[in-house]
Amino acid sequence: MSLFARKPITVERDRGLVRVLGVGDLIMLSIGAVIGAGIFASLGTAAAGDIAADGTVIRAGAGPALIISFVLLGVVCGLAALCYAELASMIPTSGSAYAYTYATLGELVAWIIGWALILEYAIGNIAVAIAWSGYLDSLLGGFGIHLPGWLNHGYLQVSMSTIPEIHGLLATAPHLFGMPILMNLPAALIVLAVTALLCVGVKESTRANNIMVAIKLVVLALFVVVGTMHINPANYHPFAPNGFRGIHQGAAIVFFAYIGFDAISTAAEETKDPQRNLPRGILYGLGICTLIYVIVGAVATGLVPYMQLRSADPLAHALELAGLKTAGWIVSLGAVVSMTAVLLVFQYGQPRIFFAMARDGLLPKWAAKIHPKWRTPHVTTIVTGLVVAFGAIFAEENTIYELTNIGTLAAFAMVCLGVLVLRVREPERPRPFRVPFVWAVALGGSAACLFVMKGLPTRTWIMFSIWLVIGLVLYFSYGYRHSVVRTGKPVVVDELDDVGH
Ligand code: ALA
Repeated sequence: MSLFARKPITVERDRGLVRVLGVGDLIMLSIGAVIGAGIFASLGTAAAGDIAADGTVIRAGAGPALIISFVLLGVVCGLAALCYAELASMIPTSGSAYAYTYATLGELVAWIIGWALILEYAIGNIAVAIAWSGYLDSLLGGFGIHLPGWLNHGYLQVSMSTIPEIHGLLATAPHLFGMPILMNLPAALIVLAVTALLCVGVKESTRANNIMVAIKLVVLALFVVVGTMHINPANYHPFAPNGFRGIHQGAAIVFFAYIGFDAISTAAEETKDPQRNLPRGILYGLGICTLIYVIVGAVATGLVPYMQLRSADPLAHALELAGLKTAGWIVSLGAVVSMTAVLLVFQYGQPRIFFAMARDGLLPKWAAKIHPKWRTPHVTTIVTGLVVAFGAIFAEENTIYELTNIGTLAAFAMVCLGVLVLRVREPERPRPFRVPFVWAVALGGSAACLFVMKGLPTRTWIMFSIWLVIGLVLYFSYGYRHSVVRTGKPVVVDELDDVGH
């Protein structure tokens, strides 16, 4: 069988995950996944850019034209979301873009996408955890508690920072054998706490998510209402200080804010009536979030000169600079809650992608184990938690945003193409949701994703290439020989269910 063997589309036998989620839960999960570090933290770098001490432009900022970046990204993600919705309604199985690609473009491409999705889910969560820690710092500051800088900044975060106070920690942190001790402890601890919650079960976790989503919407509404009253129209000039280059590069980093509307398709096997509920959940969730971003972006860049948004907690910082200390403190609280919800959804999604890949024989069998009592893929949940916590301790957030974005955009582009391939190959297959004007939407969607990727720095492309090479080596040394589709040997269910006894 060829490298491009496709997995037949069948509604899979129930493997023990329980169908508990309705359309309301999906929209809440989607908002829970989408609104987080992107709007609360990466917005700062996207608007202000990043300029080294010697004046070299590392990233051009969008300035107030950030709202144009948001609108453009809303369109790009809207195109991809339509494609996700068609595939999610046809292939309602765990695994998201990975599963869709397997059924359309074949095994090798599916593996590459599954591998790229690790960037979106696990690596992305490293950036969210770091942003979480940044807002926790300003939240605790409101109570007069200040953690020492060396305990809530990772080594790479400090050594790569262009902000002098942060870079200075290299010298002021305690040293051991001549090496500075630097660790982002809160970021690692929150990841471990979320992991523990997810091991215990999905319903408990979605309930917690619903509460956190409600809180984040209230807090953003507060930011908009209070901020609007203090907008200084002079801050909107110049509107696009770096022209289209700034809008493009700003979009390439703040794309992070949109990641997640696709995450709910990983919950397909736990969704009631997925054919109907998945497309609705995906599209409604994306629409709501785009609207919120444009409004928040307009208020943030009107509140302070855009260069002052360059901070670990730009929304709270903007309010403080405008003299609104209490509101800034409440926003910090909301940001901490919001990002906890994001962590929850991605730590939930990643193990389910591993689970789907293991069930297909592309990863070792232990990755498909379900806990006998909790009915969750506990082994992959724990592995993901440990990897993300380890990364959060020392990584730098902007690099991680960019790496996450490139992986996710690649997956989105493939999903768009997958829709077309399936339309041509299997035109008769029932499609509970059909993409309108499919050629324009799918081709436009993948071209638009590539265009956003072009706004990322060369080193992100290099890191992504290295990542793909590692993935290919793993595929040819394991998945190629164990694939269920290629070998015809199924992964034995009983063995999986027995594990843990
Ligand atoms: N979109 C998610 C966030 O902004 C990943 O945190």
